[in-house]
Amino acid sequence: MSSITIPPLSEDLVRVLIDADTIERKVYELSRKISEDYRDKKDLVIVGVLKGAFIFTSDLCRQLLTPHTVDFIALSSYGSSTDSTGNVRLIMDVREDLADKHVLIVEDILDSGFTLEYLKRNFSARKPASLKTAALLSKPDRLSADVQLDYLGFEIPDVWVVGYGLDYAERHRTLPYIAEMHPV
Ligand code: IMP
Ligand code: MG
Repeated sequence: MSSITIPPLSEDLVRVLIDADTIERKVYELSRKISEDYRDKKDLVIVGVLKGAFIFTSDLCRQLLTPHTVDFIALSSYGSSTDSTGNVRLIMDVREDLADKHVLIVEDILDSGFTLEYLKRNFSARKPASLKTAALLSKPDRLSADVQLDYLGFEIPDVWVVGYGLDYAERHRTLPYIAEMHPV
């Protein structure tokens, strides 16, 4: 067994909101549920949304008990600030042809919902066999778009969070836990 060193909180981090063990247990639980739901489905494609969902996607996939492929898409709607522009840009598309595949979009967090709304519209046009969404986190108080998640890890309050893939201007992305941050 390896032991995990928790880096000390830096001054812009307010508190640990979700610790590494709690995340691990939730990801395991979600993976089991997804494995069960896709048990009889062929051609499952997991699409992780870069960069924020890269850790969640890899942890989730490694616990899946059903055959699948992994692809990534990169989008941007934020600059270095914490407010969504609602103006989603496609930076890098998936490589796989999604037609007739069972597609599961994996996001880090549902905030305004504009990113997921854009993705669902964009992917639906490619005629997948089915299209579902998973996110580790959701801020229900911030939701503006009309989107629902099929799989959700945790609901959190309207605070800016970093770690486990999520960043603030590229900072704190690789923290093993999710922390609330106040930009200084
Ligand atoms: P939405 O389009 O407003 O739902 O925003 C979705 C994207 O904004 C997420 O995929 C994240 O990359 C980013 N985001 C939203 N809230 C946070 C946060 O609290 N911390 C880090 N990134 C966030
Ligand atoms: Mg994201």
